[in-house]
Amino acid sequence: MKRLLVVTGGGDCPGLNAVIRAIVHRASQERDWEVLGSIQAFNGVLREPTEVVLLDNKKVAGIHFQGGTIIETTNKGGPFAWPVKDKNGNWTTVDRSDEMIRKLQIMHIDGVINIGGDGSQRISKRLYDKGLNIIGVPKTIDNDLSSTDSTFGFQTAVQVATEAVDKLVTTAASHNRVFVLEVMGREAGWIALNAAVAGGAEVCLIPEIPYNINKVKEALEKRFHRDRGFAVVVVAEGARPQGGDVVTQENDEVGYENKKLGGISGHLIQQLKESGFEHDMRQTILGHLQRGGVPTAYDRVLSSHFGVKAFEMALNGDWGKMVSYRHPDFISVPLEEAVAKPNLVTMDNPMVKTAQGLGISLGI
Ligand code: F6P
Repeated sequence: MKRLLVVTGGGDCPGLNAVIRAIVHRASQERDWEVLGSIQAFNGVLREPTEVVLLDNKKVAGIHFQGGTIIETTNKGGPFAWPVKDKNGNWTTVDRSDEMIRKLQIMHIDGVINIGGDGSQRISKRLYDKGLNIIGVPKTIDNDLSSTDSTFGFQTAVQVATEAVDKLVTTAASHNRVFVLEVMGREAGWIALNAAVAGGAEVCLIPEIPYNINKVKEALEKRFHRDRGFAVVVVAEGARPQGGDVVTQENDEVGYENKKLGGISGHLIQQLKESGFEHDMRQTILGHLQRGGVPTAYDRVLSSHFGVKAFEMALNGDWGKMVSYRHPDFISVPLEEAVAKPNLVTMDNPMVKTAQGLGISLGI
């Protein structure tokens, strides 16, 4: 019997369960494969006692439309940076990767499928370099991985953000207000840009294009003076003004290494007020609503493709690679290539051209 361990790492994402189900269903068609899941990314393997569960057809029945991940996840710590307290009571990290690989050998694990974003796939690459049989499955609502045409979870996040724009339009129109909707997107503005186009926003500000507050004000005033008196601005959490920095929040969670973003919508409203913009403004931070709940049909289909392909890669011993969607095919790319560069919005991207063609101001 061969044993495959499935891990979900990083922030959760709609479609994770559909990937898990697809791996298990495909594996059950082979007589000699068993699938296990590590609880909370690699923590389940590293903890004593070990927290690993059997994933069979019964366990994954009906999970394809459930948000989250039945095997839980974490975006803190990990095998290379396990948090421990030093003798002074301060938190520090230790590398437990060798110990974990030895433990996986003792558990007779033949290979691992790591479903996660860029951070998780960097961990996959380092573990592969240490000799672990590992395959990556790309996951991110931000759509910021360049080695695949798209990642599951993204369409669901865009749908949620677009529905928020639709809702804000009616209240903005009723009160002649500007609504600033803050959506996720640390370094990549894909969610913001897609929701702005789909929802018909007037302004869209993204991390890749630092904005000029005077241009934002100009676009909004034009809208109020020559057109209907309301507007919706979609701003990605990682957006920043020209010459300025991103807006962050305090975070004292042990092992959390990312900057905790959030608050650019309020900062933008403040800047607009200071620049003399006089209309009423309100902010809405959409936050984790974009990550929770039922994945769209598109994301379930993409997740299912990824799961089946990932298992078949394991079957063929295609380790050290990540599943990738290159329309219309599902291929495998070396992990090294998978994490080499992020997928960011560039000025020549058709989404930018379409947004500008629709008259959406990008604040430049
Ligand atoms: O990377 C996905 C993402 O949703 C980012 O857009 C966001 O900044 C981050 O995760 C938030 O993660 P959490 O609050 O779970 O730490």
